[in-house]
Amino acid sequence: MLLDQLLDRRILFVTGKGGVGKSTTTAGLAHALAKAGRRTLVLETDTFSAMESFFDFQSTGLEPVSITDNLWASNLDSEECFIATLKRFVPGERVARAVIKNRIARVFFRAAPSVNEVTILDQVRVFYERQNPDGSPYFDHIIVDLPASGHAVTFLNVPATMTGMMRGRGPIAKMTAQVSALIEDPSVTAVVAVCLPEEMPVNETIELAAKLEEVLSRPLDMTIANQVHPAPLKGDDRETFQTLHKQVRETHPDLETLFFETDGSEGETTALARVVEGNALSLGWHDRDQTYLKLLHDRLDLPIIEVPVFYEATGSDVVRHLARFFLGEADSLEASQPQEESRP
Ligand SMILES: Nc1ncnc2c1ncn2[C@@H]1O[C@H](COP(=O)(O)OP(=O)(O)OP(=O)(O)O)[C@@H](O)[C@H]1O
Ligand SMILES: [Mg+2]
Repeated sequence: MLLDQLLDRRILFVTGKGGVGKSTTTAGLAHALAKAGRRTLVLETDTFSAMESFFDFQSTGLEPVSITDNLWASNLDSEECFIATLKRFVPGERVARAVIKNRIARVFFRAAPSVNEVTILDQVRVFYERQNPDGSPYFDHIIVDLPASGHAVTFLNVPATMTGMMRGRGPIAKMTAQVSALIEDPSVTAVVAVCLPEEMPVNETIELAAKLEEVLSRPLDMTIANQVHPAPLKGDDRETFQTLHKQVRETHPDLETLFFETDGSEGETTALARVVEGNALSLGWHDRDQTYLKLLHDRLDLPIIEVPVFYEATGSDVVRHLARFFLGEADSLEASQPQEESRP
């Protein structure tokens, strides 16, 4: 099962270039882990919540909302995280709320974005440390849908930077040091990059891996190449297909007519030619994807999971397809066509 490679990590940070499918993949991974019996919490970092629409729920403060068996979600509102952190340093919630309501304090906190980052990450730590009465972890896995890769390393590096600024002294420095130790510990935390098999997202993933090493001295743990186009035909059939395609091009030189004529006057021949052209198109997409996948494999020495594009599926349906894929229930790119499936 694809998930096996992540099962020993309790905190998974998911990032990637904007729009590549980070939130969908985060939701798919969370759903898969929950279906595999792991108590899983999916977190967002004070963003417009994608999880609420995927899983059909409404956030109510920081406390995770129960979605389905073994699955919880919360959108980490930065102000609530700030109050939660502050509560651990001042006597009681009333004082904490009074501090944040103070006009000058507000201006200060709004102007210091790193405060948001550190308190959001501190809340991740709090959920990580939450225990059952018998001392076992309350959540087996916490998956965080991080900001886009351009900002992700800066985001994850805030606790270490703050610890440095405070020279490690005082109770707040103790907290930031704890959070940064957690982020940098590769036995607890995995960083997963989602990308598309396209030039810009692939290059950004390669840069992300280098930056994680450089800034956080930790590796990128896994890349998920999303929306890979499955091969429309297998090795040996390719030659036969190419001969056929050549014939079609000779008999139907005008492609535009082929795709857009609607009178059906040419009947079966045109229908067949359309199928051949359609397959030639997907073969082209597949070949282009392979070029960028090769670049990823050449440049990154880490597991690269290829996730198929799920045609005709949107939103929460893609999440369900992804969860099945991660669980090995649809175990190949060929098996990626949409199938009917009941809701969880
Ligand atoms: N494997 C897939 N097959 C088909 N569609 C997909 C797949 N993965 C993601 N999508 C679609 O791609 C779109 C973008 O996905 P998503 O919102 O998860 O991206 P994102 O990286 O979180 O974006 P943002 O940077 O805006 O937060 C969505 O419409 C989603 O349904
Ligand atoms: Mg998103």
